[in-house]
Amino acid sequence: MPPPTSTRSPTDPSALDDFVAASRTRVNAVLDECLPAATQHPAELHRALRYAVFSGGKRLRPAVAFGAAVAGGADPEQAMPVAIAAELVHTCSLVLDDLPAQDDNATRRGQPAAHIAFGSATAILAGSALLTEAFAQCIRLPDPSAGVTAGGGLADTIGFQGLIGGQIDDLAFNPSETNLEEVSQIHLRKTAVLFRFSAWGGGLAAGLSGEHLDRLGAFGAAYGLAFQVVDDLFDEDPAQCSILHVLSRREARGHIRGLLDQAEREIEVFGPDGWVLAGLARRVEGLIP
Ligand code: IPE
Ligand code: IPE
Ligand code: MG
Ligand code: MG
Repeated sequence: MPPPTSTRSPTDPSALDDFVAASRTRVNAVLDECLPAATQHPAELHRALRYAVFSGGKRLRPAVAFGAAVAGGADPEQAMPVAIAAELVHTCSLVLDDLPAQDDNATRRGQPAAHIAFGSATAILAGSALLTEAFAQCIRLPDPSAGVTAGGGLADTIGFQGLIGGQIDDLAFNPSETNLEEVSQIHLRKTAVLFRFSAWGGGLAAGLSGEHLDRLGAFGAAYGLAFQVVDDLFDEDPAQCSILHVLSRREARGHIRGLLDQAEREIEVFGPDGWVLAGLARRVEGLIP
């Protein structure tokens, strides 16, 4: 990726547009390189995982990882393995989330969901293969010690206390017996932890440590919570875990703004180098319906 601040002030909104577009193009190219060809045996598996990965995702988690590297004063390319790992885990989570045994969604991003196009068995195996490749990406970080740390962080992100734990609580959710704390805990684990990993991991790949990594992780968590609450405002399904079971729409908008303010405070320590992350957070505010 070209150095993002080389020609224009980061306060120019088009600089962020360009950064996000460049990161999406790079991520798509690297994903294409790292996934097996659709013609390679077993072709059905490879077709399915490519179908799930290349279906128009916004690539937000990679953008956060790259933004964290920029906050750390590094070339965003350094965060590529973390960015790819986060996107692979995200894609896996959507493939599994849409299965009949979970949310039973027939479509994803306006197209047949992976299990509709390929059957549940292939979709489950493709999702599992994407998870496995995510760990392989982490351990390929040029600094082996950072690779091990990133792999451990990814395991925590996905495991009992992370995405899988959040998804199982989401499935067991009872709208008539809930509160803000419970909804926020589900949101944190099913969605925000992967943004936390992206920001923290981007900083790790950039050579940051200690308090700086903690700040990036806290940014990612607050950003991810805000992102999921915005998603809830678009989702009308009354059975789903949603902030709207515990807050009015007006209160939810205030809650999102509070989370985004918190996200911005977490990265003040990076000064102007935090411009990508700060800009990404402001964009979430622009999505509030
Ligand atoms: C959708 O995430 C699932 C949620 C966590 C709300 P995204 O909106 O980032 O999904 P894509 O990858 O861009 O489709
Ligand atoms: C998506 O969550 C999957 C994860 C966050 C792991 P939801 O079920 O809330 O989102 P959509 O509506 O299917 O995208
Ligand atoms: Mg779900
Ligand atoms: Mg769903």
